[in-house]
Amino acid sequence: MEVIISRTYDDLSKLAARMIAEQVKHKPNSVLGLATGSTPIGTYGELIRMHKHEGLDFSKVVTFNLDEYVGLPPTHPQSYRYFMDEYLFNHVNIPKTNIHVPYGHAESILDFCQWYEAQIVGYGGIDIQLLGIGGDGHIAFNEPGSSLGSRTRLKTLTRQTIEDNARFFDKPEQVPCFAITMGVGTILEARKIIMLANGPKKADIVAEAIEGPISAQVTASALQLHRDVVVLVDDDAGAKLKRADYYKWVYEQKTKLLPGLIGRGT
Ligand code: PGA
Repeated sequence: MEVIISRTYDDLSKLAARMIAEQVKHKPNSVLGLATGSTPIGTYGELIRMHKHEGLDFSKVVTFNLDEYVGLPPTHPQSYRYFMDEYLFNHVNIPKTNIHVPYGHAESILDFCQWYEAQIVGYGGIDIQLLGIGGDGHIAFNEPGSSLGSRTRLKTLTRQTIEDNARFFDKPEQVPCFAITMGVGTILEARKIIMLANGPKKADIVAEAIEGPISAQVTASALQLHRDVVVLVDDDAGAKLKRADYYKWVYEQKTKLLPGLIGRGT
């Protein structure tokens, strides 16, 4: 795992966007795995800036989002599809037909989940998967106890996740209790993974996920098994990392001697 501790959220967002942009330039028809939540908003903002001012071209890019609430139509302002439209899709040139967000109104969720997995495979798999981390250590909506081999499926959200997400809804009781989510196993098949975390509230769980044991109780810890993961945290989210000095040392040495290897997951 490569852990990069950035001074600010802005720095972290720019670095994440640069990695995604490099991927898209290198392979114009890249398959991007995308995440919602407050954490990636800065990354999307920077990608939009690169598209508008530096000609970053998404015309061949294909996207798969991690998750979606069950029961919210894509037009609902709190649906993840709506979020993605607002913060990214409406501002870059990804063809609408290349965009995949789990459909929370699917008639048969089981069939939909199998179709979604097959679509990912059909496009050749995910090149870069962007992730946030939940307060309970979840990636996508893989709540504690999710099998580390899990696939796209229906998941019941924990009370903590529902409370964490209540800030986006008028009333806490409006937060859906179920979601469709890619599984941990699905996520681990991405060729590269970038996990982002910022702010002091994430400090404990980031340390547990990165430096603690691999456990289905903290599904983000499964990333330790992946061969190309970059964890980007700001100073606040990285504050409890025991090996922070080493991560900073690695970054300094690479910056000086091997700048091409920054963000390569080594
Ligand atoms: P956040 O959510 O980015 O809003 O903190 C992260 C997550 O729950 O995955």
